[in-house]
Amino acid sequence: MKKEEILLLDQQYNQHPWLPGNTEPLAIARGEGIYFYDYDGKRYYDMSCQLSCSNLGFSIDPIKEAIKAQLDDFAYVAPAHAFETKSRLAQKLVQLAGGHFAKVFFTCGGSDANEAALNMARTVTGRSKILSRYRSYHGSTLGSGNISGDPRRFALENPAANGFLKFFDPYVYRRGGTAESYLAELEEQIQHENPKEIAAVFVESVTGANGIIIPPDGYLQGLRALTKKYGILLVCDEVMAGFGRTGKAFGFRHWDIEPDIVSFAKGITCGYVPLGGVIVSDAVARFYQDRVFQFGLTYSGHALACAAGLATLQYYEDNAIFAQTAARGKLLGALLEEQKSKHPCVGDVRYIGLFSAVELVKNRAKKEPIAPYGQPNTIMPRVFKLLRERGFSTYGRENNINITPPLIITEAELRGAFEVLDDVLSIIDQEVEG
Ligand SMILES: Cc1ncc(COP(=O)(O)O)c(C=O)c1O
Repeated sequence: MKKEEILLLDQQYNQHPWLPGNTEPLAIARGEGIYFYDYDGKRYYDMSCQLSCSNLGFSIDPIKEAIKAQLDDFAYVAPAHAFETKSRLAQKLVQLAGGHFAKVFFTCGGSDANEAALNMARTVTGRSKILSRYRSYHGSTLGSGNISGDPRRFALENPAANGFLKFFDPYVYRRGGTAESYLAELEEQIQHENPKEIAAVFVESVTGANGIIIPPDGYLQGLRALTKKYGILLVCDEVMAGFGRTGKAFGFRHWDIEPDIVSFAKGITCGYVPLGGVIVSDAVARFYQDRVFQFGLTYSGHALACAAGLATLQYYEDNAIFAQTAARGKLLGALLEEQKSKHPCVGDVRYIGLFSAVELVKNRAKKEPIAPYGQPNTIMPRVFKLLRERGFSTYGRENNINITPPLIITEAELRGAFEVLDDVLSIIDQEVEG
């Protein structure tokens, strides 16, 4: 099929997420390593791993082979059945999470993983309220969408039936403060909301889509202590931050805490087949030992996904990908700091492992965002277009450019991509007050 035909049919029949229907998509012909190619043969650095999920790029043969081998046995059996790849994958995930973790429930992605966590938190505690942060994204389904804090929740919110409460993020660049001040503010809110009604606090250990907000040291440890004090479950959403993205198996591992439930997706299969799930503590697992978990999905623990997941975890392990990411992250940090020192349009850069964002401002001293929060604007779509025209593909929300490259990116590839970023930021510099 020709590119024009593909685009025509796409425009006519496909509804795309998070974009107006008249947005013209890129027609992608193939992927190889950290790059993908359009139908004109143009090459793009995949600097977002698509939606921060294709963490190993496009060409990992052992994952492809594992999917094919599973197909030879069976592609699918109902979730109630046991089979080798599902058993081994769950065991590996529990081992990877370490500490008090005991069991896994598989879903098809991140939104339904958070639905499962929500269901568990309410059932286990017998409480209904859920606290989460404003600058967060936890999914698009009714529960996970209401847990999300960013404007994508608005279409799902029902204020009359709302047990979903929000608190502010430890966003030190914009709000100042310390771990202690954020925790004191949250404790006050918990007290005002009647702690006995709060089932769970959901947090992304490191906020992803909303601009890589890294909690100050002590924040997650304090949050763990605070939730324990009030009998509230702590759910860490590791959908984007998990599986090496931050240089460790899970983001929360940087601060040495044990949440009650961990939701995961994306990097578990690197997008080769959709898969998500929750890893739960021994206490949560024991709660369900003689009780029914009233939740299920036809494709929970799909065999092709489990095969891909097992091969992906094996690949991470065999190639020491998490340690390599931590090391490559040092170069990413240095390159980002260089951009910040060069370009007046850069207000802040944030990075941990290969998880990073460039925050654009109109005026550095006043930290005025280049695009106002929650408002349609033309400048950020232009930034992404300029990058894409030069072969650098990524996304971001509000005034952030998220940069989450494949974990296998080489030093030369990273430097090459940053030459493109440098060019584009020089153009944007002309349009800000400095
Ligand atoms: C932190 C986080 N949680 C949950 C989700 C939802 O996952 P999915 O799109 O697989 O449903 C996302 C998706 O970007 C995410 O970044």
